[in-house]
Amino acid sequence: MCGIVAYIGTKSARPILLEGLKRLEYRGYDSAGLAILNEELHVERTVGRVRVLEEKLKHAQGFDGTLGIAHTRWATHGEPADRNAHPHRDDPTKGHGIAIIHNGIIENHNTLKTYLQEKGHVFSSETDTEVLAHLIGEFYEDDLEKAVQSALREVTGAYAIAAICASEPGVLVIARKGSPLMVGVGKDEYIVASDSSAIVAHTTQAFNLDDYTVARLTRDSFRTTTLDNVPITPQIRELEYSLDQIELGDYSHYMLKEIFEQPQALRMTLKGRIDAREGQVVLGGIAEYARELVRARRIIFVGQGTALHAAMIGEYIMEDLAKIPTEVEFASEFRYRNPIIEDGTVMVAISQSGETADTIAALQEGKSRGALALGLVNVVGSTISRETDAGVYLRVGPEIGVASTKAFLGQVMVATLLATFIGRRRFLSADYVSNLLQSLEVIPDHIERVVQLSDEIRDITSKYIDRENWLFLGRGHNYPVALEGALKLKEISYIHAEGMPAAEMKHGPIALIDNGMPVVFVATKNSQYEKVISNIEEVRSRGGHILAVATEGDDEIGRLCEEVFYVPDVPEPLQPMVTVVPLQLLAYHAAVLRGKDVDKPRNLAKSVTVE
Ligand code: AGP
Ligand code: GLU
Repeated sequence: MCGIVAYIGTKSARPILLEGLKRLEYRGYDSAGLAILNEELHVERTVGRVRVLEEKLKHAQGFDGTLGIAHTRWATHGEPADRNAHPHRDDPTKGHGIAIIHNGIIENHNTLKTYLQEKGHVFSSETDTEVLAHLIGEFYEDDLEKAVQSALREVTGAYAIAAICASEPGVLVIARKGSPLMVGVGKDEYIVASDSSAIVAHTTQAFNLDDYTVARLTRDSFRTTTLDNVPITPQIRELEYSLDQIELGDYSHYMLKEIFEQPQALRMTLKGRIDAREGQVVLGGIAEYARELVRARRIIFVGQGTALHAAMIGEYIMEDLAKIPTEVEFASEFRYRNPIIEDGTVMVAISQSGETADTIAALQEGKSRGALALGLVNVVGSTISRETDAGVYLRVGPEIGVASTKAFLGQVMVATLLATFIGRRRFLSADYVSNLLQSLEVIPDHIERVVQLSDEIRDITSKYIDRENWLFLGRGHNYPVALEGALKLKEISYIHAEGMPAAEMKHGPIALIDNGMPVVFVATKNSQYEKVISNIEEVRSRGGHILAVATEGDDEIGRLCEEVFYVPDVPEPLQPMVTVVPLQLLAYHAAVLRGKDVDKPRNLAKSVTVE
C-alpha cells in the first residue's frame, strides 16, 4: 500500500516522479501528489489516480526542477481528500518551506498535535503526516537533516519519509522505520522509492534503509546516520529485478502475465536447489541452521491471506515429510495471543512482500520468546528477510498484480523444499527423496499444460459471472487450495466466495445451497477422493452447480458435474501446485468479464504494511 518516490540529480524530476508513481500504483492507493523544489517550492496533490495528478500538472506552472518528492497515499488518518493527500507542509506562518511525504502511521500524532497547537501551529488536514511536517518545522533552524532527526526522536509508529526544504535546494532527506524505503544510486543522481520497481529503470545499484536510519542526499553524495547522527554505512547491492520483468509485455494484466509466468518462475525457485539423482535439497540460506532444524520440536508457520494458505499446505507437507509437529497461525492473531514458545521451536514467516506488518510483528514476537526465525519471502532485502535468522527466497520474480499467484506457488514450492531438506536429515531415504524431487522437477511442465486451459475456463466462467455467492470445497492438501480459490475470486471480482473443508459443508453451510449456486470442488484423485465425490452428490441433490478441478482421465466425475477443469495427475502432496491454477484463471476471467480493475482491486494493497 501507498508509495514514495523522490529524486535528486541533474534531470527534470517531474517525469521521473510521475513514472515512478505509476510503477508503484500496484501497491494500492487513494490519492497522489508531488512537490518540486527549484527557486521555490511547488506542491500539487489530489484524491484519485496518478493520471488525475498528471492532468492537474499540465495546467500548473513552476513544476520544473531537478529535486522532488512524490507520493501515493493509502489513507489511515483522514479521509481520502485533496487536503489530506501528500505532500504535507510545515506551518506556513513559520515560513521554512518544508514539504514531506510519508508512508506509515505516526501513532503519537495526537499528543504531538496538541503540543504544536499550544505553540500556535495551525493545521489544514486530519492526517498524522501533517503533524510530522509541522514538528520538523518546529525543530528547523538551518539544517533539514538535523530537524528530521530531532523530530523523529519524538515520534512513535512506523514511517518512511522524504523531506525537502525551500532554503536547502540541494538537499533531500529521507528516513525509515517500519515502512520500506530504498535508494537507487545513479551517476550524479539518486532515486528513492518504496520498492525496486520504481528504481530499476534508472539504476541497478541500490541500498535499503534500515530502521531508525536517516539519509541526507545531495546531487553527488549521500550519508546515512542513526537518529542520533551516528554515521552508518549502507550495503549497496545489485537489484535482483530487470526492467523487462516489471513490464506488462503483451499481456492485458499483470495477474495474467504472472499466472502464465508460473512454470518459469518455479523453475527459477528450484534452480540449483535440488539434486534429484542424489536425493538432496540444497538451501544455502538455512544450511548453517540444519542441525537446529533437524532437532526442532515444533514448527509454527505465520502469514496472512494467500501466504497463510501456502502455510497451511506447508503444515501438511512438513508433518508428512519431516514428522515434526507443525501448526499455522494468522500472524495477526499470533502476535497478540501471548503464545507459548518452548525450546526447539522454529517460526517460519511466509510473505511475498516481506513487508506485511502483522507477519513482521508475529515473527518479532516469536523471536523475542526464543524461537529460531526463518523467512520464506520473495522480495530480496525486505524487512522480513532482514528480521529473520535465516531464510529461503522464493525467486519467482517481481509480483505486481495485487492478487498473488506465482508467489503462492513459490511459497508452496519452497515450503516443500524446506520440509524435504529437514526430512532427508531425519527419516526420509535418498530413494524416497529422489523420487519426490523428480516429481517436483516436472511440476512446471504440468503447469504449462494447465495454463493452456485459460480460454476454456473463460468460456465456462462467463456462464456464472452473474452468481453473487460461491462455495469452494476441498479436503486434505486441497482444502487450503479451496480457501485460496475463494480468496482470488472475491478479491478481484468482488463476488462473495467462501472456502472450507468439504466435510464442513454439512455443519451449516449446506443450507446455502440453492438451485444453480456455483460450488467449486477441488476433487483430484487422492486419498480422500471418494469422500469428495459423496460431498459432490450432496450438493447436486440440492440443486447446486458443480465446477470441479479433477485429474485427467477421471471420467466418473464428469457425469456428476456441470463443469470440469482437468489437471495432470501428480503425487498428493504436490497437487496444490496444479489444482490452484484453474482457480486463479477462473478468478481472473470473472473479474475481467465483470469489468473490474484486476491488478488494482478496490480497497486492496499489494502489501499491507500497516496493522
Ligand atoms: C493475496 O492475493 C492478497 N493480495 C493478500 O491476501 C496477500 O497474500 C497478503 O496480504 C499477504 O501478503 P504478503 O505475502 O506480501 O505478506
Ligand atoms: N498515515 C498517513 C496518512 O494517512 C500515511 C498513509 C500512507 O502510508 O499512505 O496520510
